[in-house]
Amino acid sequence: MLTRFLELNRRLSRRFASRAESADRFYRDYDALVVGAARGLEPGSAIVDLGGGRYCPFAAEVDRSRGTRIIAVDIAQTELDANETVDEVRVADVAAGLPFADGEVSLLVSRTLLEHVKGVPAAIGHIGRIVAPGGRTIHLIPCRNALFALAARAIPWRVAKPVVDRLVPSAKGVIEFEPYYDSCEPQTLERLFREVGFSRVQVQACWSQADYFQAFFPVFLIVWAYQALLRRLGIRRLAAYVIVDAER
Ligand SMILES: C[S@@+](CC[C@H](N)C(=O)[O-])C[C@H]1O[C@@H](n2cnc3c(N)ncnc32)[C@H](O)[C@@H]1O
Repeated sequence: MLTRFLELNRRLSRRFASRAESADRFYRDYDALVVGAARGLEPGSAIVDLGGGRYCPFAAEVDRSRGTRIIAVDIAQTELDANETVDEVRVADVAAGLPFADGEVSLLVSRTLLEHVKGVPAAIGHIGRIVAPGGRTIHLIPCRNALFALAARAIPWRVAKPVVDRLVPSAKGVIEFEPYYDSCEPQTLERLFREVGFSRVQVQACWSQADYFQAFFPVFLIVWAYQALLRRLGIRRLAAYVIVDAER
């Protein structure tokens, strides 16, 4: 009965959502940005996918015929063991340090990593150390003032995780790691990247967050109106996701 009720709500929400801006599109924008940046690399360059986990979303689209390699770095060996999309893996906690020499990396990227890191300023410091002068770094980051992040920060993870699995079935296998959202705000991120030596720092915002509420259509509608208002007013502090694109 409950399952059918939730499914009916999801169907209604999805029908409505097809007309709205979606977070999926923002994820695809990130992939396209990374693939575009990879095209400009010298033959033989390495792309570092930080917090690379089990799967690199842009790997299939990067031309690796000229020796370009993708190296996934992650805190969890178990995640990397499952990653068959990259050329090399290295284990590291990005907040503690990164296993590369100063200025060794031309392109360093991450997708949905930094919200899981305790010590984001330190992590960005390590990124600044290893990205080469003229190099580029691109990150897709869920933000701490999104409604889903406020909920995640208020509710203990062990309680929140089973509820998310029940209400957002597509989150299984995707939302698996405890989030902290340390420093995950557009202005703070821009400042931190500038402080470690990135001169061109662009921060693109996305306000879409209604997808998390599809299981309750009335709530979905309210959140959809809220995100539309934020987008119209351009309130970046309340963005749901950002893409940080920075060059040294
Ligand atoms: C949500 S997953 C994202 C995986 C992949 N980037 C993707 O988009 O599918 C977050 C990943 O970050 C890793 N991670 C969390 N904290 C980390 C840290 N401090 N240093 C390195 N990796 C970390 C987790 O082990 C996990 O694989």
